[in-house]
Amino acid sequence: MKTFDIITIFPKIFDSYFNESIIKRAQKNKLIKINIHDLRKYSPAKGIHKSVDDKPYGGGPGMILMVEPIYKALRAMKKKKKRRIIMLTPAGKKFTQREAERLSKYDQIVLLCGRYEGFDARVDKLVDEKISIGDYVLAGGELAAMIVTEAVARNIKGVVGHEHALEDETFSHDLDYIEYPQYTRPEDFKGQKVPKVLLSGNHKEIEKWRKKNVKKRK
Ligand code: 6GU
Repeated sequence: MKTFDIITIFPKIFDSYFNESIIKRAQKNKLIKINIHDLRKYSPAKGIHKSVDDKPYGGGPGMILMVEPIYKALRAMKKKKKRRIIMLTPAGKKFTQREAERLSKYDQIVLLCGRYEGFDARVDKLVDEKISIGDYVLAGGELAAMIVTEAVARNIKGVVGHEHALEDETFSHDLDYIEYPQYTRPEDFKGQKVPKVLLSGNHKEIEKWRKKNVKKRK
């Protein structure tokens, strides 16, 4: 079983998405375990406010996540042998399907969600790598953590359910499957018909048609 540990100041954000569909089933089938860690639990403040951020030294806008709560959260976490600690930040390396495949080889993925204007620079020493999900800025790393978790989990054996046929050399990767047009019922929708070859049952011809009709991604 692979473990995903997510460190966040908004633990509730994950409740709905992770309790539906493929991620729900993967957890139920004990293929993955997702632990959500509330960063505020590790706040150095004693009061009810439990702050985990502060103003930047030298001035400037916004608030910075403090290093100490993050250090403590990581220290408190159960550690598996093959672990990767990842900071989610728009300044990270771009996340791709290849990266999702690479990360699926670890026993434990720790995802550190930022908020506000960023992290104290000393958090860098606590992480193995930094990941961005694309060239745009989000309010925090929580959506990125959900995206990385799902994309990585899909590469774990048994999570997707229907495994792509190993003997099918032409279309053996997830990315290939989204490249040709697919149809389901009805055969005729307002005059738009399903290509006849797909109804033929001739698998050689169907594969030829699919290869010919692969659309290149933009
Ligand atoms: Cl990982 N975090 C934030 N805050 N914004 C992003 C991102 C991550 N990836 C793209 N934009």
